Amino acid sequence: MNLGVVGTGYVGLVTAVCFAELGHHVVAIDTNAEIIARLSLGRATIYEPGLEELLTRNLARGGLRFTTNPEDAIRDADIVFLCVGTPSRSDGAADCVHVEDAARIVAPLLNGYKLIVEKSTVPLNTAYRISRTIRGFAGGPVNIDVASNPEFLREGSAIHDFLHPDRVIVGVDSDRARALLLDLYRDFDCPILVTDVPTAELIKHAANSFLATKISYINMVSELCEAVGVDIKTVAKGIGLDPRIGEGFLQAGLGFGGACLPKDVKAFMKIADEHGVDFGLLKEVEQINRRRVDLLLRKIERALWVIRGKVVAVLGAAFKPGTDDIRGAPALAVIPKLRKNGAVVRVYDPKASANMARALLPDQGLSYPDSPYDTVRDAHALVILTAWDEFRELDLDRISALMKTPIIVDGRNLFDPTEMRDRGFEYYTLGRGDVALPLRAALEVQGAR
Ligand code: UGA
Repeated sequence: MNLGVVGTGYVGLVTAVCFAELGHHVVAIDTNAEIIARLSLGRATIYEPGLEELLTRNLARGGLRFTTNPEDAIRDADIVFLCVGTPSRSDGAADCVHVEDAARIVAPLLNGYKLIVEKSTVPLNTAYRISRTIRGFAGGPVNIDVASNPEFLREGSAIHDFLHPDRVIVGVDSDRARALLLDLYRDFDCPILVTDVPTAELIKHAANSFLATKISYINMVSELCEAVGVDIKTVAKGIGLDPRIGEGFLQAGLGFGGACLPKDVKAFMKIADEHGVDFGLLKEVEQINRRRVDLLLRKIERALWVIRGKVVAVLGAAFKPGTDDIRGAPALAVIPKLRKNGAVVRVYDPKASANMARALLPDQGLSYPDSPYDTVRDAHALVILTAWDEFRELDLDRISALMKTPIIVDGRNLFDPTEMRDRGFEYYTLGRGDVALPLRAALEVQGAR
């Protein structure tokens, strides 16, 4: 099929590249000429495992093209995917300004029947608004359907998620739209759920809000675990083995960040509110999530006593492993707090250091070394904020020898507390119990270094 993709951000780029990989002819547009120039040269604008390889392969094959000219993407397209951002407004609702812009761009270029598909995460009834906007700005009669086909891509495994989805949701209002989308997804080996358009729109917000709820639930249980001296990892395993609950999304730690879950929880509450439904449960989910960073900061304070003048090594800037994305990352809250309290902070992330250094500029008290070992040299504490596998594989004896005091505050529960005690670390976790030396012994260790 001929496919047009409007927007080459995270969702748009992955959608364009993956549909091209599946043999479709894809033309993707963006208003940002710099992004289009880079992508046209086969250089990915975001880090996502496997993306650049698919990008270069499909550009070379001729099945994928990037342009700033909307006409090129719309003219021959059977289906046009709208993949533009819907950031949070100050009142929590999703800001649909880019969706409207996209609809206005498409409207005057329509030449015959087109299926317009929203992939962005949008509030209920957005498809109807898109349809109305297109009809209003087309300058004549148009032959379109607007469908909803939400994406469920996780950053870090977006290519895999796209090519091997758990399910495809197709929200349509006409037989023609239904037939086109079922044809597009006919080779996918997963359940395809066909619904009406508002149902598909709602499923996306409900799914992300449920995932956030699951994370806050396990984090709340982890608070209780700490209070009663039980290991949250074992509790999570014990409840996750029940297939009705499932093992996914039960990792206690610093909570959920990123560009999607925090924004979508807010937007879902707003949708509920606008329809007279009080979704208080999600308010609590947000509050529990906010508390996680505070808990970690308290642990750092407990471990270091006075933060002023201490060197704190931070491992992890990305909001989760497998990405260079720092949007909604706990690091954005933790690092400024440490700096404000007078710590000298060094930050290392396998992929996201450059993005973090753009957000929090390096200065005398904040630097971005190139390796985890340079980061921890002479540090008084090591704070782990992202669950990269690279951190699990660190040479802990080397880390301990390099640090001034072997203290780790682990916001992602990467290590086994007993093992850490045996290696001589003071080790603070979120929900697994803390290995803290008695005060006198700690002072002796410090004195001996
Ligand atoms: C999320 C959803 O998982 C995707 O299905 C959805 O398509 C996407 O949003 C979107 O709306 O575009 P993503 O934001 O990439 O994907 O990241 P997740 O893997 O969902 O993780 C979100 C946050 O939860 C991260 O900060 C992660 O560290 C945290 N998390 C995840 C936990 O704290 N514990 C867990 O057990 C799992």
